[in-house]
Amino acid sequence: MQLSTLALLALCALACGPVGPFPGGRLGGAPGPDDVRSWEFAEDEDQIQVETRPEDPHSVNTWFVGLGSDLYVPTSMILGPKDPSERSWVAHVLADPEVRIRVGDLVYERIATRVEDPDEYAAARRALEQRYDLDPAERDASREVWIFRMDPRPARGVALLAPFKKELQTALREGMAQGIPEAITACRVRAPEIARTHSQDGVRVGRTSHRLRNPANAPPAWVAPLLAAYVADPSARAAKTVTIDDGRAGYVEPIVAQGLCLACHGSALAPEVSARIGELYPDDQAVGFASGDLRGLFWVEYPTARGR
Ligand code: HEC
Repeated sequence: MQLSTLALLALCALACGPVGPFPGGRLGGAPGPDDVRSWEFAEDEDQIQVETRPEDPHSVNTWFVGLGSDLYVPTSMILGPKDPSERSWVAHVLADPEVRIRVGDLVYERIATRVEDPDEYAAARRALEQRYDLDPAERDASREVWIFRMDPRPARGVALLAPFKKELQTALREGMAQGIPEAITACRVRAPEIARTHSQDGVRVGRTSHRLRNPANAPPAWVAPLLAAYVADPSARAAKTVTIDDGRAGYVEPIVAQGLCLACHGSALAPEVSARIGELYPDDQAVGFASGDLRGLFWVEYPTARGR
């Protein structure tokens, strides 16, 4: 066993996955979908492989547990260094959270997010202990165990939103070059047009806000709770990828007010600007913002591998 492991390692020369406790290189396998609704199918696997450090791939075998659409990977629970950051894969993840994981035959591109929420941590830890038959009463208090959630990478959402954001920006800049009241009209006409142009082939993009100017920009049902969560925690600025339903995923990104926006969304609007906005948007709630405030969200929904 020992010999054949060494022989395999020599053959692989870090060009393939880990063997037992020996780390490997880049993981081979067909790409898995971005969005996984349930990891139940992986229940029979004892371990999965996690590849870290994209610039020089390093892969290891690890324990894991799936809870619904979330996949959790712990740092050493019984063996190895007691300080998680001493494990090389953990140090890599802290430096760059982009990982690839292999579950069965498929390789999934993911972002490793350390679980900080105590309830979520407790649930994941309990599930891990159950899965690997560990007695919580025998936990070694001197061993710190971190748990990472392997979230879908937002790459798809970022890529789908990029052209929409860029065109909006151009339209605003072109409008502003003619004066603010003209830019208001440009926003009113161009913004919905641009959103329509980029909503094709099952993809829909838009902008929304908790304080709307145009009621037509109200959030879709799946965006509303995400928006409420950002409003409740004004320091939360990370983008989020979510499952909408079987076959569709969504991605949202906070929009932060900047100096340029305040001419039309700030607290001291020029009288002619105020007048034009009042005419076009009698129920306007989108004023009184300061630079750095959450102004709203960009959102995009798209079919996942399963839905295509
Ligand atoms: C020239 C005036 C003007 C400027 C400057 C401006 N906006 Fe707007 N904004 C508008 C108008 C008008 C609408 C409504 C467009 C529509 O009818 O869909 C709007 C709508 C929005 C919406 C959609 C949600 C809603 O309330 O209807 C967001 C989000 C938004 N603006 C963010 C920004 C940000 C961020 C900036 C700065 C980068 C900015 N705006 C700069 C005039 C402006």
